Amino acid sequence: MAPPTEPRLVTDPEALRDACARARQAGQRVGFVPTMGALHEGHLTLMREARARVGDGGLVAVSIFVNPTQFAAGEDLARYPRELDADLARCASAGVDLVFAPTVDAMYPADDATRVHVGGLTEALDGIFRPGHFDGVTTIVARLFALVGPSVAIFGRKDYQQWRVVTRMARDLFLPVEVVGVATVREADGLARSSRNRYLTPEARERAGCVPAALRAADALWRAGERDPRRLEAVAHAALSRASDTVEYAEVRDAESLGPLTRESASLRPMVLAVAVRIGTTRLIDNHVFGDLPP
Ligand code: PAJ
Repeated sequence: MAPPTEPRLVTDPEALRDACARARQAGQRVGFVPTMGALHEGHLTLMREARARVGDGGLVAVSIFVNPTQFAAGEDLARYPRELDADLARCASAGVDLVFAPTVDAMYPADDATRVHVGGLTEALDGIFRPGHFDGVTTIVARLFALVGPSVAIFGRKDYQQWRVVTRMARDLFLPVEVVGVATVREADGLARSSRNRYLTPEARERAGCVPAALRAADALWRAGERDPRRLEAVAHAALSRASDTVEYAEVRDAESLGPLTRESASLRPMVLAVAVRIGTTRLIDNHVFGDLPP
């Protein structure tokens, strides 16, 4: 079988805008998957979802950009893996048409002065432990949406809060894009696929199994009828602290607003358990929605 054709590589923002505008004028639907590269099966699943949503005649565009504004000082910006050639081959295997891989200067010119901030949703969980992170995410995603003009954009529910924040941004700004959240792709032991998993030493990788184990333990309790958010949090926290160096949070929150839940309000609302831990030098996040997520 012939190898899949490589996607068209674009580095200039104006060239990206032109290519996507031409596709739309020709009647193609445009599906978009923003990433920071070091692509794995989780990302490829989003690309296949984009293809399924725009059809064979549509345009699937992927961005690969390690966005500096979403990393706080002291985070892993410098060591974040960058491997464009391998990523292009991965995109080819997923049937991607176009890859946008700009420079930092192209996305953030020297006279750049605009930031996008979503309130409320960003004031909990990762918003507390990664100050400024979500402003960086919404700023770059808004810029990318402006260039691509996608009819559908695909995100992973692995980054549950990010998916909710981007959905809210699109709604509040009346952006004509459908934001879709795709279920988390996991390893055999349940660990969520992540570009950051490669930081884990074999010993730390083994300990990282406590993250999916904590989600499973809380889910088992929920299935047994427990609805008290504090008890669900406690069982997750216990499983995480057995093998993590730090548990940053293990919180049960409203699955839509991410607002806090009391024992009384919990039974009325869909709930998500969101966790963040540090294992060795690696920070891992994961989450679990109890029951079914309403559409
Ligand atoms: P990145 O971490 O590269 O992730 C890109 C997309 O892939 C995100 O929507 C993320 O949720 C999704 N993803 C990652 N691992 C996944 C998994 N195991 N299963 C399903 N989906 C998964 O998230 C970012 O980049 C950036 O913040 C970005 C949105 C590109 C803005 O810079």
